[in-house]
Amino acid sequence: MRLIAAQDRLIVALDVAGVEEARQAVQALEGAVDFFKIGLALQLAPGVDAFLQSLLAQGKRVFLDYKYYDVQETLRKAVGRAARLGVSFLTIHGPGSLIRAAVEAKGESDLKLLTVTVLTSLDAGDIAEMGYTRHAVDELVLFRAKKALEAGCDGVIASGREAAKIKEIAGSRLLVITPGIRPEGAPAHEQKRHATPAEAIRAGADYLVVGRPILGASDPRRAAERILAEMQDAFDALP
Ligand code: C5P
Repeated sequence: MRLIAAQDRLIVALDVAGVEEARQAVQALEGAVDFFKIGLALQLAPGVDAFLQSLLAQGKRVFLDYKYYDVQETLRKAVGRAARLGVSFLTIHGPGSLIRAAVEAKGESDLKLLTVTVLTSLDAGDIAEMGYTRHAVDELVLFRAKKALEAGCDGVIASGREAAKIKEIAGSRLLVITPGIRPEGAPAHEQKRHATPAEAIRAGADYLVVGRPILGASDPRRAAERILAEMQDAFDALP
């Protein structure tokens, strides 16, 4: 039996209106959650850089979900900066050449580079509209996961519905980080390929990213604790 602590594997997405709200959310979850995602919702919020530094200084882990996509040289500079900051995870986009440039730029740092496969809020109609010729979502996710693996990426962002297939081809060589988590009965919002915490873990997700089901709850701490308990049961039951 593998011993995995759910608390190490839950990332709360700080998709809130500003830094003060984010600070309050972190405080409300003190002792329960210590891994936080800062993404586009906060990217331009005044004070976000100092907030990020203060999280790191408190020993929290940070997933910077800025979805970097640019020419190699710019990407290298941006990834190098993130690596020096000490964030744990960073999302990037693009073909193998860009991923390889990012891998080179992170050097020997502990930063894990993750590529987004297909946003969990998109379905087959959406990817067809974007011009992808692989119209089955799971096929496209798997294709992108393979390319990420070949280019030396550390992990991928994928829904709980595709995690098992990714693990089949990559095993422990690719981390699977799964957003679009919805506990039984919770509203889906725009997430079209959602899964419960237990479903995602049974499918092979290594980390779960949860936003609204925790921060939108009347008692965020209780919501986080419930999700952690469901995650722990699912991890403990893994073969
Ligand atoms: O509120 P909710 O739990 O839906 O938040 C999910 C988070 O995961 C959001 O911050 C969103 O940006 C992110 N995400 C996602 N699907 C992806 C990649 C990232 O939902 N494929």
